[in-house]
Amino acid sequence: MPSHVLREVNVSSDAAGRHHWLEAFRNVRAETEARAAPLSPEDQIVQSMPDASPTKWHRAHVTWFFETFLLVPYVPGYRIFDERFPFLFNSYYVAAGPRHARPERGLITRPNAADVAAYRAHVDHAVAQLIETADETTSREIFTILEIGLHHEQQHQELLLTDILHAFAQNPTHPAYDPSWAAPVAQSDDSYVEIPPGIHQIGHDGDSFHFDNERPAHRALTQPMRIARGLVTNGQWRDFIADGGYTTPSLWLSDGWAKREADDWHAPGYWHHVDGEWHVMTLGGLRPVDPKAPVMHISYYEADAFARWAGKHLPTETEWEVAARHNLIDNAFGIVWQWTRSAYLPYPGYRAPDGAIGEYNGKFMINQMVLRGSSLATPEGHARLTYRNFFQPPARWQFTGLRLAEYA
Ligand code: AVJ
Ligand code: FE
Repeated sequence: MPSHVLREVNVSSDAAGRHHWLEAFRNVRAETEARAAPLSPEDQIVQSMPDASPTKWHRAHVTWFFETFLLVPYVPGYRIFDERFPFLFNSYYVAAGPRHARPERGLITRPNAADVAAYRAHVDHAVAQLIETADETTSREIFTILEIGLHHEQQHQELLLTDILHAFAQNPTHPAYDPSWAAPVAQSDDSYVEIPPGIHQIGHDGDSFHFDNERPAHRALTQPMRIARGLVTNGQWRDFIADGGYTTPSLWLSDGWAKREADDWHAPGYWHHVDGEWHVMTLGGLRPVDPKAPVMHISYYEADAFARWAGKHLPTETEWEVAARHNLIDNAFGIVWQWTRSAYLPYPGYRAPDGAIGEYNGKFMINQMVLRGSSLATPEGHARLTYRNFFQPPARWQFTGLRLAEYA
C-alpha cells in the first residue's frame, strides 16, 4: 500500500500542485485495482447481502463519481463513457438521477469485468488530462472535487474488502482473499486512563481535508471518566459468551435482543465451532480465534451488551476524540473501528453542502451510530482524529470492535 498518498498539500494549480494531484490520483486508482486483483471475474459479481456490493460495482461506482462530479461539469464537451452506466453506478444521489436498486447489484453480469476495466481506463485518462490542463480560475474547485473523489474511492477500498469477506464467509470452502493475511497485532493493556474533564474542542478545524460531517469544530463537555487504553479482545469476548452474554436478555437493548433472536447470534460475526474450538472467517480464510487479538465483527448491540456485562460503558465520540488527541489510548487506528455510544447526528451548526454532493453524508444523520478510529482495511492516509464513520446498530460485517469506558 502506498503510504500517505493523500498527504496534505494546498489545493494549487502550479506545476508542483498538478504533479501532486496526478500522483495521488494514480496511487489511489492503483490501490483499488490492487485490492481487486486477487479476485476472479466470478468473485467480482457476487452480492452476498443487500448491504454489501460486488467488487465490480465498487470499481465502477467510484469511477462514476469522478465522471459525474468532475468530468461532466469541468471538461467542455466531455462524452459519458456509456449512457447506461450512470443508472447502474449511481449509489444513492437522488439529485444525480435515477438509479438501480442497491440489493440487486449482484444481478448485473453485464457490463462485464473487462467493460468496467475499460470504463476505468477511459475516466483515468480524462481525469489525468483535466489535472494537466485545468485552467487557473476553476482549478481550485477541480482539485477540491478531485480530493473528495480520492477519499471517496478510499472508502470503497475498505468496503471492497469487507464485502468480499462477507461473500467468502458464505462459501463452505472458506476461500482466502489473501492466504498470507495475518491478524493485526494490538498492544494489550488492561489499564484505564483518565480523560481531563471539562470543555474541549472537537471536530475538524483548519483547511486540511475532511468530510463535511466533521464540521464545525465546536465545544463539547466530558465528565470525569476513564477510558480503556486497549481494545476488547477475543479472550474477553469468550468469557462474555461463557457467562451467558448471548442468552441474558437483561444485558441487551430491546432492539438488540430482537435482532439477536431473529438472527440467532451467539458469537461475533464469522465465528464458527470447528471440532469444539472457535474459529473465525478472516481475509486469510478460516483461522482459530486468537484470544489476544481484538474482537471484531460485532454490532453496536453486541458492543453495548458486552459493556453492560463488564459493568462499563462505551465512550461517546467526544470522549474518544479527546482521548485520542491527548494520546491517551493505544490501538486508536488501523485495527478495528470502535463503536461509540454517540448517535450519528449533525454537529451544532452543520449544514450539508449544496447540490448532489450534499447527499454524501448529511442525509444519513438518523438511526446510525458513530464509529471512531480506523481498521485494518482502511487505506493508508485515510484516517483522522476527527473522522466520523457511521453504521446502523445491527451492522457487523465491517471490521468493528470496541473499547470500554467507566465514569468516576
Ligand atoms: C461512511 C462507510 C458509511 O458505506 O456508504 C461510500 C462511505 N459514502 N460512498 C458508506 C461512502 C459514499 C459510507 N460509510
Ligand atoms: Fe460511494
